[in-house]
Amino acid sequence: MNVKKAIIPAAGLGTRFLPATKAMPKEMLPIVDKPTIQYIVEEAIASGIEDIIIVTGKGKRAIEDHFDHAFELEDNLYKKGKLDLLERVKRPGSVDIHYIRQKEPKGLGHAVWCARKFIGNEPFAVLLGDDIVRSDEPCLKQLINQYEETDASIIGVKQVPEEETSRYGIISPKDQNGRRYQVEHFVEKPAPGEAPSRLAIMGRYILTPEIMELLDNQGEGAGGEIQLTDAIERLNATKPVYGYEFEGDRYDVGDQLGFIKTTIAMALERSDMHDDVLSAIYEIVENAEASKH
Ligand code: UTP
Repeated sequence: MNVKKAIIPAAGLGTRFLPATKAMPKEMLPIVDKPTIQYIVEEAIASGIEDIIIVTGKGKRAIEDHFDHAFELEDNLYKKGKLDLLERVKRPGSVDIHYIRQKEPKGLGHAVWCARKFIGNEPFAVLLGDDIVRSDEPCLKQLINQYEETDASIIGVKQVPEEETSRYGIISPKDQNGRRYQVEHFVEKPAPGEAPSRLAIMGRYILTPEIMELLDNQGEGAGGEIQLTDAIERLNATKPVYGYEFEGDRYDVGDQLGFIKTTIAMALERSDMHDDVLSAIYEIVENAEASKH
């Protein structure tokens, strides 16, 4: 069965970006001039997804408005002949975006479970907004290709430096086939030196629908939240789960430093601003160096 549906959980509290996220969803924070969630939606569309369900929470109306038609704005841009901008504000075609509310932020596993009726009995994708991936072939498409070969759940992984393993879920691989690893176990945030590998779970998953039954009765895990990784560990006991080390550069926009780095990298990717941004960076660095002496 083809993967045509995707869940984007966006009901977290975004505490790392307070106070910006007090009245605005963190998914709407812009990287240059596009909200982070739009990069994620564009990756899903480029991977062949036809229906997206965004799991939202309190104070997330701006996400719905962003992906809606903005008739007055579009009309105004059209009349002023600003056709480039008009193209950029139009809602994405070729995909239907649906919304469901997670009534309480009970964890990522719970957010995914909230979309169970929408998913039904099909394999589906989960994309987290904290990870933006730049690659020739969209990251999610790479995972879908692996799903088509294995008919099993596939989790996007990347090598991280040893000192960073404690920030991620790490897979303990038992078998390798090129970039694909069969998973023996998942270890949540292992201390450096205790990690079974440096392969960290990034925010991209293809999951088979049995995961929803497991989430039905998944108890609370770390932090008192219902953890998706705990349910995937249980799934792995009955059906193989694979990690796939996807190709491309992954940017972490979930904390301040990552957000700043991503903003710079994305601005440098753009031909209309590359040179100006680069000279601004040199200037800032020179001033910072000079003020040290
Ligand atoms: P995070 O752990 O990054 O939490 O959630 P967060 O709220 O987004 O950010 P911080 O840590 O407080 O700054 C990982 C993903 O799971 C979603 C989040 O929206 C994010 O995409 N999530 C988390 C939910 O949808 N619901 C939850 O109850 C928890």
